[in-house]
Amino acid sequence: MGRTTSGVKSTKSESDSLFRALIATAVDGIIVIDSHGAVQVYNAACERLFGYSSREVIGQNIKILMPEPYHGEHDEYLRNFRESGERRIIGIGREVVGRRKDHSTFPMYLSVGESELEGRHLFVGIIRDLTELKAQAASHEGANRLLAQLVASSDDAIISKTLDGIITSWNRAAEHIFGYASSEVIGKSISILIPLDLWPEEERFIEQLRAGRGIEHYETERLHKDGSVVLVSLSVSPICDAKGVVIGASKIARDITEKKRAEARTNMLLSELAHASRLSAMGQMSSALAHELNQPLTAIMNYIKATKRTLASITGFPTARANELIENAAHETLRAGAIIKNLRDFVEKRESKRAFENLNKVIEESIRLGFVGVDDVNVNVRLELDPEIPLVLIDKIQIQQVMTNLIRNGIEAMQLVDRRELSISTTRADGDFVQVTMTDTGPGLSPEVLSRLFQPFITTKEKGMGIGLTICQSIVEAHGGRIWPIEERTVGAGFSFRLPLTEGSDLAA
Ligand SMILES: Nc1ncnc2c1ncn2[C@@H]1O[C@H](COP(=O)(O)OP(=O)(O)OP(=O)(O)O)[C@@H](O)[C@H]1O
Ligand SMILES: [Mg+2]
Repeated sequence: MGRTTSGVKSTKSESDSLFRALIATAVDGIIVIDSHGAVQVYNAACERLFGYSSREVIGQNIKILMPEPYHGEHDEYLRNFRESGERRIIGIGREVVGRRKDHSTFPMYLSVGESELEGRHLFVGIIRDLTELKAQAASHEGANRLLAQLVASSDDAIISKTLDGIITSWNRAAEHIFGYASSEVIGKSISILIPLDLWPEEERFIEQLRAGRGIEHYETERLHKDGSVVLVSLSVSPICDAKGVVIGASKIARDITEKKRAEARTNMLLSELAHASRLSAMGQMSSALAHELNQPLTAIMNYIKATKRTLASITGFPTARANELIENAAHETLRAGAIIKNLRDFVEKRESKRAFENLNKVIEESIRLGFVGVDDVNVNVRLELDPEIPLVLIDKIQIQQVMTNLIRNGIEAMQLVDRRELSISTTRADGDFVQVTMTDTGPGLSPEVLSRLFQPFITTKEKGMGIGLTICQSIVEAHGGRIWPIEERTVGAGFSFRLPLTEGSDLAA
């Protein structure tokens, strides 16, 4: 465009064509009508808005562009204006509804001005289509409404707060979980929910939030209005303003008190079950116990008899020899005692105790326990124990139970085969684990059992309870480890389990 209207002296025909160019290129719809409503000017933007060409509209009554009730009222309105000069919308813009050629309607913003030209009264309307704006607003409103519904209907407490800890929103679940109505807590400090000894933790959280980092599924304690402790799993995300500055936090708290109670009940049941299964193993062991103890006890007898004989046959007092024999007797007595203690520890009901242990030693002891009470042993045990493995933090009796369960399963599986070989190996795996692998040369795991191995009461044995492997899994997992069957074996069955190395494992080694 070479010229502008301001400051340009122009002839009438020049200004006419300038006016036309302006109207034609205007983004907004521009309509000019006379005082009877007949359309004088109708620009290209209007053609797009209403779907009528200017030829169809020029000279027509403006009301063809209006739906009811405007359509019916407009003539009356103009007459009123002509007679009384009363202006209702002139000079003020407002939102109205337009009607397209196909009779569909759309929201529009209309500003109307009036002017006089050569004695004729003219009205100029400028029209802006509001369809898109309205749709955006509606979708915002819809999203907000959906969000509000989600927050209200959530079973988790959803709370927002400023970085100073002032509560700014509090949903229905929060009322339920913490006992406070939203009116009681909004504007108050979140600290009413935090047990005194956990304030340092909250301060750490706030530091983390200031740095823009959230917290996920953090299990901790909060206080109910009645003073009782609620166990919650917290997820907290920073809330940022438009510039990305953290101004607060939204917190989702899930009440896990019930879940924790259920877990404790399950753990208790499992430990009861583990104990029952050890007792039942003890039943099977007891007959062999006599046999095991017989050997050292007989030896003790022999040593003591020999001592007696030695003392009787030698004149003088052969203290050294007598001492040696009596030492031997004492040693055997200790051995007998150790066997009994081992068994007693194994079946005793006790609290879980963890200490750093050498898994190789635990395995050697487990083999002794695993074979106690097994008739017709004839099983070749092959050990490949890595002497370098670090110590692991375990409950020794529980891990012995895992080993004896696996060993007994292996021995039981091999009863009907000729080649009976049990191989056990230990190794350090993936850096952070110690892995134990046990294989046998029995018939292997049948496909029906394989998919349900670790479910309780799955057994193919007449006298089996089907809980051996369930217990193995619960013990290994309670130690932060994992147990699994080795599926790609051609002969026999195999199981591996791994236990994590903890801080101190290497130091303790
Ligand atoms: N080494 C193995 N070889 C073949 N099958 C096995 C082996 N170990 C386990 N199984 C199969 O898995 C089933 C479940 O084993 P699990 O130790 O849980 O129970 P169980 O030995 O039957 O009874 P128990 O409660 O006395 O241990 C067994 O009945 C058996 O069918
Ligand atoms: Mg078993």
